[in-house]
Amino acid sequence: MTTICAFGIIALAGCNDDDKAQQTDSKKNLQPIVIQGALPIETESLAAKLSDTTVETVGGWKFWKGTYQGYPVIISKTRMGMSNSAAATTIAITRYNPVAIINQGTSGGHDPALNVYDIVLGKYTTNIGAFRTPQLPVGGGSNALNWTEAFDVFPEDESDPEPIAIRKFEGDAGLLAAAQKAKLNYKKGQVVEGTLGAADVWNNELDRIAFFHQNYGTSAEEMEGASVAQIAAQFNVPFLGIRVLSNNITNGGAYDAGTGEACQEFVLDVVVEYMKAKQPTS
Ligand code: 5AD
Repeated sequence: MTTICAFGIIALAGCNDDDKAQQTDSKKNLQPIVIQGALPIETESLAAKLSDTTVETVGGWKFWKGTYQGYPVIISKTRMGMSNSAAATTIAITRYNPVAIINQGTSGGHDPALNVYDIVLGKYTTNIGAFRTPQLPVGGGSNALNWTEAFDVFPEDESDPEPIAIRKFEGDAGLLAAAQKAKLNYKKGQVVEGTLGAADVWNNELDRIAFFHQNYGTSAEEMEGASVAQIAAQFNVPFLGIRVLSNNITNGGAYDAGTGEACQEFVLDVVVEYMKAKQPTS
């Protein structure tokens, strides 16, 4: 039998013990990758698949540290929303020095062409909860469809107190490439690249959803990604949002909690592809 070992060595009768030990060490010595999920249904099955697991709780945020197929992995339960996920991200980066962060979980569809169980890879992630509203007098009412100016909470020019722009955080190219490879194994729906919109809002107004789809190019919405992307950008840590549609009211797609599990399985494949690419080959 011909086996190709790591480090480019070709052995005729499989890898010897030294090769295997070296391979295990080169995996263990990598910086860990952090996978985040907001809810128990978005993290617990991931955590259960780790080996040599230890649990750390910092403030209200839980981290499972372990290995997956020998690679160092940390699962982080961020809890829901922008503040929780920002805090969990800051803790993870300062405490564990991760090689990359994946924010994953469920989402609501903005694109009628996408179905429940389809997965969106966040080529872009953007904040859909930051605006400068029009000026209206007392009695002038409020109509969110007229909020056409996005407020950029992360402007390059910090001297401008009212920066107006839709800021999109780009998904890391290496993580996207790993996700594209992992896509071949996902049989429960399509995997597409798109824009993920995040805010502390669950939108159920179809005109509002269409507004974001048209003006921000959103494929799906969730409540954490843009906040994580913003913190990761401040620390120069590679980031990618990966979201399964658990519901899509634009085409009648009813909520399915099983999607959370499907997304976690896909993300583990992404992790293996990404970490494999990070492993030294000589
Ligand atoms: N709108 C907003 N967030 C959603 N989530 C799932 N579906 C939606 C939706 N339609 C995700 C959020 C949050 C939790 C409610 O699930 O990211 O963590």
